[in-house]
Amino acid sequence: MHPLSIYALFVHNLAEPLLPFTANTAGPALLAEPCAPCSTAAPSVTVRRAQLVDVLQLCALVNSYAAEKLLLPRSTEHIALALDNYTVTVDAGGRVLACAALTEYSPSIAEISSVAVLRELQGRGYGAQVVLAAEQVARQRGFTHVFAMSLAEQFFLSLDYRPTPLHEYPEKVARYSDLEASGIEILPKSCFRKALA
Ligand SMILES: CC(C)(COP(=O)(O)OP(=O)(O)OC[C@H]1O[C@@H](n2cnc3c(N)ncnc32)[C@H](O)[C@@H]1OP(=O)(O)O)[C@@H](O)C(=O)NCCC(=O)NCCS
Repeated sequence: MHPLSIYALFVHNLAEPLLPFTANTAGPALLAEPCAPCSTAAPSVTVRRAQLVDVLQLCALVNSYAAEKLLLPRSTEHIALALDNYTVTVDAGGRVLACAALTEYSPSIAEISSVAVLRELQGRGYGAQVVLAAEQVARQRGFTHVFAMSLAEQFFLSLDYRPTPLHEYPEKVARYSDLEASGIEILPKSCFRKALA
């Protein structure tokens, strides 16, 4: 990783303290609300803000689905520079099991993206858990809404997201156009929106 990236990471992490929270024993700041899907995740995992040590695993996890066009590809540099936007689920050995990213779209709206769970651990509540945690970070940052682009429609519906037209997010449309122009294939995905209580 470029030394500048590591420096930026360090600054990013210092600029905003980590907000650790553990599955089923969450602190009051995060996952304070009842979270049914979390109860299916193993109690020994921790959901927390991403750290430098997670970057390579994060990159591998996201890009394993980018190869199938389910997620956009991410470089280690991209993830490192945006590290404080990532939330991860890790096991006791530090293995990254799941992740989600939060990107500011406007002062009130953020996009939830790069939601991924290790293939062998899907269907156990980790995806729901990490998205709820990313939403909590969004609330703490003052966002009132989040949106997501995904083929995993049932997943987002189960988390109280509602379908919304993509044209509500013209900058996202423009970004997709730029990516397609650069040769990245974008599958047509549904757009979902959720108001953060
Ligand atoms: C989509 C993904 C993140 C879901 O994570 P997960 O840990 O398997 O999902 P969970 O176990 O937390 O499931 C939460 C809910 O979504 C539902 N769900 C999850 N995946 C689903 C699927 N493929 N089809 C239908 N329902 C699904 C579950 O049934 C559950 O609903 P319930 O609470 O009513 O029982 C995971 O399958 C994944 O990594 N997919 C590849 C990458 C991707 O497509 N990411 C989304 C784009 S941002």
